[in-house]
This record gives sequence, structure tokens and C-alpha cells, in this order.
Amino acid sequence: MDMKRAYHLDLSEKEIEGAACAFLPGDPFRAEKIARAFDPESREIAHKREFRTFLGRLNGAPVLTTSTGIGGPSASIVVDELAQLGVKTFLRVGTTGAIQENIQAGDVIITTGAVRMDGASTHYAPVAYPAVAHHEMVQALLQAASAEGIPAHAGVTASTDTFYPGQERLDSCSGYVLRRFQGLTDELRKLNVLNYEMESSTVLTMCGVLRLRGGCVSGVVVNRARSEAVAPDAAERGEANAVRTAVRAMGMLMRL
Ligand code: URA
Repeated sequence: MDMKRAYHLDLSEKEIEGAACAFLPGDPFRAEKIARAFDPESREIAHKREFRTFLGRLNGAPVLTTSTGIGGPSASIVVDELAQLGVKTFLRVGTTGAIQENIQAGDVIITTGAVRMDGASTHYAPVAYPAVAHHEMVQALLQAASAEGIPAHAGVTASTDTFYPGQERLDSCSGYVLRRFQGLTDELRKLNVLNYEMESSTVLTMCGVLRLRGGCVSGVVVNRARSEAVAPDAAERGEANAVRTAVRAMGMLMRL
């Protein structure tokens, strides 16, 4: 029988050994940390461009960790190609900039839905279609964070196509933000949006449309109410807490 092969991920159906669940970090180096966190014997099975994949075992079953790179376009390739190979559960493990005052660096944000400020998700569904996390993913992530003693906030995330102007950052090359983005952070804060990142809306829209389980947990690496720049120690803590939450949550999800 012919085995399907995913072009960008450089992976075949045979190589993923029937894995039905995948962690999706942005960063190829975080992929290795996640894979080793749940299975020290995890193996790297592919690496092409920004897409690096590990295969390990969790609760005795094969689980993938594939990096998406930054932003919706490359994340859409990962979700589409892994879904073609038979993966059904997608857990994004990201980093994020919080915009609400009460959220601290190192906390995690569990996305219940995303404001679709990206372009990639509009290639899968019209903008009126909601980018919502699967309820089992939200539930498992909340339980996992609580069991790990990690402060967690569940709510709406804004996903953007750029890190600088799209998130209203002035510490960019030009220092200029288009008029349509000026005041955005304050408006989103007033709309009870918790954070900025760059992939959730694409991942969640696609999972909804394609009948997959999608969820997102992000470690807070900066609070934009206080700073624009990410501090290295905050980045480390945010990432580590998101990874711990995600690994424990996936263990629970595999039993559902
Ligand atoms: N990722 C983002 O997209 N924004 C931040 O501020 C931090 C991480």
C-alpha cells in the first residue's frame, strides 16, 4: 500500500507510527525540549526548514512534536500536513505577550478563542467563523496547570501577522505603527483580550473546520502593560511553565 508523504514536513505516514496527537511549538529548539520532557528516548525523525519533528511515547502511545516556525502561514502547513497523515489532536505550546495588568511573566495563558488578526486562517474559513479551542483541550490544560501549581489564565487571545507593528510595538526598525494599529493594545485590553501571539487563530480555525481537537497554551514572556522587550529570564520561565502544562494536559487528553 502507498504511504502518504508530507512534502514540507518531510514525513511519511509510516514514520509517524500512527501518532494521533501532536505538540506544536513555534521554535525548533523548543520541540526538542518538549519531546524529551515526556520521553527522554524521543527521536528526531525529520527536520526541513523550520519544521523539526520528534517522535516519542506518552502513556505508551506515539506522540509527535513538530515546530511550526513563527506565524500563521507556516503553522497552517504543519496542521494541514499532519492532519493529512492522520493526526487528530493539536496542542500549540507557545510564548506570548500579556496585555492585562494582572498577568505576570511566567504565568500561562490558555486560549479559549482567538481574535483572527492573521491572514492564514482566512484561507480556511471566512472571518465570521470563530477560532475556538476544543472544550476538552481547555479543560485538560486548566486541570494540568492547577496540578502543576502554575498560575493560569483562560480567555481570548489576539493572533497577529507581525510581532512589531501588528502588536503595536514602537521598538521596531522604523518606530512607526500604521494608524490602523495605533491604540490597538488599549482597545483589546478593554475588550478583555488577554494576550498577543501569532499562531493560535490559524491553528484553532483550521482545527474547527477540519474536525480536529485544537488547543493552545502559551507562557507569558513579557507584560506589554509594563514593557515591549522580552527579558531572557522571563522567556525561560514562561516557556518552561507552558511545556509542563502542555505535557501533563496531553497525558490527560490521550485518555479521553
Ligand atoms: N510572542 C508574541 O507574538 N508576542 C510577544 O510579545 C511575545 C511572544
